[in-house]
Amino acid sequence: MGYIIAVCGKGGTGKTTISSLIVNWLIKNKKARVLAVDADPNSNLAINLGFKPKASIGGMLDEVSKNPSVIPQGMSKPEYIEYRIQTEMVEADSFDILVMGRPEGPGCYCYVNNLLRDIVKKLVKSYDYIVVDNEAGLEHLSRRTMRQADTVLIVSDDTSVGLRSARRIFDLIKELDIKANKSFLVLNRSNISADNKEIKESGIEYLDSLPSDQEVLELSIKGRPLSELSSGSTALKSIERICRKLWP
Ligand SMILES: Nc1ncnc2c1ncn2[C@@H]1O[C@H](COP(=O)(O)OP(=O)(O)OP(=O)(O)O)[C@@H](O)[C@H]1O
Ligand SMILES: [Mg+2]
Repeated sequence: MGYIIAVCGKGGTGKTTISSLIVNWLIKNKKARVLAVDADPNSNLAINLGFKPKASIGGMLDEVSKNPSVIPQGMSKPEYIEYRIQTEMVEADSFDILVMGRPEGPGCYCYVNNLLRDIVKKLVKSYDYIVVDNEAGLEHLSRRTMRQADTVLIVSDDTSVGLRSARRIFDLIKELDIKANKSFLVLNRSNISADNKEIKESGIEYLDSLPSDQEVLELSIKGRPLSELSSGSTALKSIERICRKLWP
């Protein structure tokens, strides 16, 4: 069973950036099988990782619902969907990426959600590390993809509003009964130090922070992958430190 790290937080805090940097670090340093899960329907994890976004699982589910005759005789719908995910959605290179997307068509979401959850549950067994970039907020983390994580990183900015929202997510993890072994606060574009009063009051164990990094922003503006960051990048240095703390 792979090590699941879920990255969540308020909108625009840097979840996708941090997820991508962690994926890149794992590939470089662990030489392990890594699965990047883009669980945000407005996904851009693929771009940050240098992939052309392919069809999402949501889109494929729509296609199968619209045209059930594509399911070969003797195969059940879940079997077929699993087969499609394994052959198309996951690109094997130095790592694999799963773009969840969101089905557009009518139909029972519970069915789709349960199906996705089961498939992801099976899939995670084939990887050493699974990095999940989540949609802003957390509700879907329980509903859609997985109910457990070895580590949850809650990303926030320095503001008290941001930290309060991080706290709500932290509480939600407990309420939703997500089996999170460990939850940490990670501050992004941050200028404050660890002994800050607001951090302490957030009640979430503080892991580390990343500074604002012009290089990250420039690549984002150009739509370039984060693997192009120079070795002098301050965000990259922070990620190095964060990953060494997570996997000493
Ligand atoms: N440390 C940083 N320094 C500079 N720019 C950053 C940093 N972190 C993130 N950004 C930029 O901020 C923007 C939002 O970051 P990102 O997409 O990672 O946030 P997100 O939490 O995934 O957003 P969403 O909630 O929309 O999914 C991007 O343009 C990104 O390049
Ligand atoms: Mg994002």
